[in-house]
Amino acid sequence: MPTNYLPGSGTGFLAYETHRLALIEIGERIRDLDDTPTLAYAAAEILGRTLQVSRVGYGTIDPVAETITIERDWNAPGIETLAGVLSFREYGSYIEDLKKSETVVVRDVGEDPRTRESTQQLKAISAHSFINMPIIEKGRPVALLYLNHSEARDWTADELALIREVAERTRMATERCRARDDLRELAASLEHQVQVRTEQLRQSQKMEAVGQLTGRFAHDFNNLLTVIRSSCDLLKRPGSSEERRLRLVEAISEAVERGSSLTGQLLSFARRQALNPSALDVNASVMAIGEAMRLQVGPGVDVVIDELEEICSIHADPGQFETALVNLVKNASDAMHGNGKLIINVTRADGIPATRGDPSIDGNFIAISVSDNGSGIAPFCIERIFEPFFTTKSVGQGTGLGLSQVFGFAKQSGGEIRVESCLGQGSAFTLYLPCA
Ligand SMILES: Nc1ncnc2c1ncn2[C@@H]1O[C@H](COP(=O)(O)OP(=O)(O)O)[C@@H](O)[C@H]1O
Ligand SMILES: [Mg+2]
Repeated sequence: MPTNYLPGSGTGFLAYETHRLALIEIGERIRDLDDTPTLAYAAAEILGRTLQVSRVGYGTIDPVAETITIERDWNAPGIETLAGVLSFREYGSYIEDLKKSETVVVRDVGEDPRTRESTQQLKAISAHSFINMPIIEKGRPVALLYLNHSEARDWTADELALIREVAERTRMATERCRARDDLRELAASLEHQVQVRTEQLRQSQKMEAVGQLTGRFAHDFNNLLTVIRSSCDLLKRPGSSEERRLRLVEAISEAVERGSSLTGQLLSFARRQALNPSALDVNASVMAIGEAMRLQVGPGVDVVIDELEEICSIHADPGQFETALVNLVKNASDAMHGNGKLIINVTRADGIPATRGDPSIDGNFIAISVSDNGSGIAPFCIERIFEPFFTTKSVGQGTGLGLSQVFGFAKQSGGEIRVESCLGQGSAFTLYLPCA
């Protein structure tokens, strides 16, 4: 409601109507704006035009430093901006009232005791008359809506009511902006924290795996060293028979052999094995290994070798290829506990299919798959079977180094190893190697 209906500028029904329209316009303009300076400027512009004053602005105040920071203000033609940091004390003593959250209304700076001393300074910034309306948050003035006019001017109660309304709306809008900024900041910081934690977790899992690996390696190696050390000790004792000495030397040389195979398998996994690739006839190679394995797996396991009809060559190290195939066949045979069907199958593949986490790869490959109808692999194990020393077999049964060799060999040869398995039904390991 209008506070009075006196005729004249800024009062009466006409004023009430223009003020109402100004508020509607402000509401519409600032609704979609989302940064404080822009929406404060929009409000200032409408307010300035409606009240026909020289300048309207919005600034944040620092009550301790007694300064106001203005990013942008609205100025009537010919009036200069106040943008920047201004010190209240240079323009009078009314900062005292602002600090008490009181609105300062000055009709003529020359007449008001708070500004009389600084009339020159105020006139120099086109503020012969002004309103400073503090914006209060949590009981403290945080910002200021100011209107300056280059001539002395009366401020009606209607105008003050309008200014107060605009100040309140600007405050709510800027609060909305800040809440949204805070939320964005919070979201960003949460995202960052999640990233940091994930990285920490990954790191600690990696460290755990490295710890297990080095532990197992040291353990296995120590066993071999123990054999060597005790054999040496016994050799040093006088009076042993030639035959006994020979047995001890045998034991040492066997331990050294096992040690070098251990490091060899680890080197394979690390893809540091010195490979000697050559064009290899897959059919011939698979047949030879398959026949040898048939004798190994025992009569309960039916070994089927499904070779390619045409002759095809791969480019790989023959020794390592043989070791990989033997490792796969041995695992398949272990999984069937002496009874089942083992199929070795050779096909051409014009690419490697994608699996969990690994993308598909284009190219000409030979796929050698070893499948069994054995125990299958539990889902929680399948992620780890290629890790060196990962084994589900009892001590003496498994070293956990078979699949890590296969994995390292496949990768180092420009191929891949893929596995499909169903618990209780069986597994299929497919070795992809590039065609020669
Ligand atoms: N064909 C298979 N069927 C079921 N499980 C298998 C098969 N091949 C490998 N695994 C699992 O992967 C583990 C790791 O295999 P590997 O690296 O060859 O080590 P090891 O045979 O010495 O245990 C095995 O202990 C077993 O749990
Ligand atoms: Mg094995």
